[in-house]
Amino acid sequence: MGVLKIRIFGDPVLEEKANKISSIDGDLFKLIKDMEETMRASEGIGLAAIQVGILKKLFIYDIGEGLNVCINPEIVLEEGEETEEEGCLSVPGVKVPIKRFKKVKVRAMDAKGNEIEITGEDLLARVFQHEIDHLNGILCINRTDKKYRRKAIRDFNNFALSEESKR
Ligand code: NI
Repeated sequence: MGVLKIRIFGDPVLEEKANKISSIDGDLFKLIKDMEETMRASEGIGLAAIQVGILKKLFIYDIGEGLNVCINPEIVLEEGEETEEEGCLSVPGVKVPIKRFKKVKVRAMDAKGNEIEITGEDLLARVFQHEIDHLNGILCINRTDKKYRRKAIRDFNNFALSEESKR
C-alpha cells in the first residue's frame, strides 16, 4: 500500500502500450487505491497505470468532483478543438500548449465493472485525451510541434537539475 514511484520522461515504459484488463479483482482494487494515493501526493488531476509502470488499460482522475476510475477506456465521440497548456506528472516542470478535441465521450468500465459513458468538455475532455494517450504510449510533449517540444525538454532538464541540487 501507499505512494508508488511515478515513471519520468526517459523511462521506456512510458512508450509502451497498455493491455486490456480482463478481470476486476482485489489486485486491481489495490492498484487503484495506490494510484489514488500517488496522484493525491503529487497533486495531479489524472494518472494512468502506465505512469507507475503497470501496463494495464486503466486511469484515474479527479478534477475536483471526486475520484473516478476508467478501465479499458475508449473514445467514442470527438468534437471541436481547443488549445490549452498541459502538464504531466511524468514530465515535471513542463507546460506545453496542445490542441485537443474540445469535447469527447469515453466508454469504459468503472471499478465495479459497470459499463459507463462519460462526456467531458474542456478540462475533462483534455484529461481523457491525455490519459488515453498514456495508455497508447504517447506523452503530451509528443503532441506538440518541434519548437515547443524542444523548449519542453529544456524545461524538463532544468527542472530535473534544480531538483537534483536540492538533494
Ligand atoms: Ni500525464
